[in-house]
Amino acid sequence: MESIVLFGPAGAGKGTQAQRIMDSTGLPQVSTGDMLRAAVSAGTPTGVEAKKYMDAGQLVPDDVIIALIKDRIQEADAVNGVMFDGFPRTIPQAEALANITEVSHVIAIEVPDERIVERICGRFTCSECGAVYHDKFNPTTVEGMCDTCGSEEFKRRADDNADTVMSRLSAYHEQTSPLAEWYQSIGIFHIINGDREIDLITEDILSALK
Ligand code: AP5
Repeated sequence: MESIVLFGPAGAGKGTQAQRIMDSTGLPQVSTGDMLRAAVSAGTPTGVEAKKYMDAGQLVPDDVIIALIKDRIQEADAVNGVMFDGFPRTIPQAEALANITEVSHVIAIEVPDERIVERICGRFTCSECGAVYHDKFNPTTVEGMCDTCGSEEFKRRADDNADTVMSRLSAYHEQTSPLAEWYQSIGIFHIINGDREIDLITEDILSALK
């Protein structure tokens, strides 16, 4: 079993690319952000604990995240590996992951900080299937209707505002960036320029995974 890690700051396009490469890789997307938002909506103890960190744009404590991942990896669809989106984000998370599953590729999507705020503030997702869109950069083909499932219901994230984005970027530079060196040293780190057309980025990721 071998897994892939999609690595990068808030708004780099990890979720967008995960949805596009799922078919080619055959691996399910495992997004810790999505799992935490589901826990917040359900009002579970994990969700209550996580919400205060998420609202502040800070990382949720490692023990909470590692417990979520340990459970998720036991599910039947994870038997051949998964595509992690937004995990690991700290050295202790990467160490825990190394004990759980083998990582074959880390795809680092790089986007300059100054592009991130406009990406985050224009994001919306389909309430039905989770497809990710952007008001300006990636709108639906027919206004008000999801391209993937036809739903007319969309939502925006509570943490997608300019203030929280700055905290999320600081958390990325201080706590997550050091992981790049860690993965570079074991030779599985692929840097992808994420400041381009979405299709070109997908092509580069698929080449890196070959
Ligand atoms: P999480 O949900 O993981 O958020 P994030 O890392 O901040 O990343 P995003 O989901 O915001 O961005 P993305 O890279 O997926 O971009 P997207 O494809 O949507 O985490 C949320 C919170 O949960 C964290 O702050 C933390 O509190 C907690 N958390 C989660 N995991 C954790 C962990 N492991 N440890 C501790 N805490 C954790 O694209 C963004 C927008 O840009 C979209 O509108 C899209 O349409 C558009 N777009 C995409 N690509 C392009 C392009 N090439 N050009 C123009 N626009 C583009």
